[in-house]
Amino acid sequence: MRALLLYSSREGQTKAIVSYIASQIQGDIKVDLYNLDDMPEVNLADYKGILVGASIRYGHFSKTFKAFIDRNSEILNQMPSAFVSVSLIARKAEKQSPQTNSYTHKYLLSTKWQPTICGVFAGALRYPRYTWLDRVMIQLIMKMTGGETDSSKDVEYTDWEQVKRFSADFARLISK
Ligand SMILES: Cc1cc2nc3c(=O)[nH]c(=O)nc-3n(C[C@H](O)[C@H](O)[C@H](O)COP(=O)(O)O)c2cc1C
Repeated sequence: MRALLLYSSREGQTKAIVSYIASQIQGDIKVDLYNLDDMPEVNLADYKGILVGASIRYGHFSKTFKAFIDRNSEILNQMPSAFVSVSLIARKAEKQSPQTNSYTHKYLLSTKWQPTICGVFAGALRYPRYTWLDRVMIQLIMKMTGGETDSSKDVEYTDWEQVKRFSADFARLISK
């Protein structure tokens, strides 16, 4: 039995979250983990379940992610599938559900994909790694949403216990 775990990640936080979920899957399930930007040709029908993770940048998930889902929504809807949504606004408890996280909510309304389960996770704030323009823009977003504005800071908001619980849900889903 095999599961396919995919991610689209800019600074590595979605990669870290999806890799963690992959590490939590044990037993007879074999995991294939790929970056959506350079995944090999695979037959999705060979998998018992598929998980796809993507992060938000200026209000949008990546084009690579959206194109992959558009191409494969039909087959994804025929099997257990999971969506992992990563953003900074999800650091707020009230923005951690697919209904209350507006990026996730809007995306799910716009796509034919109906993931069986959806996890909304807080990402990381990596000021020192951003370009000057991104740093200023993120500072503005953080100021508007009451977050960290000190541009020397590197803050990981991901709640790994929440990711662990979601990993167990996904493992259960594909073991059924
Ligand atoms: C240039 C840029 C724009 C971002 N825009 C948003 C945004 O509009 N809303 C939000 O909640 N988070 C935003 N984020 C935060 C990212 O979603 C967060 O840092 C996440 O951890 C990135 O995951 P990744 O490293 O897998 O790409 C932005 C981050 C960057 C660097």
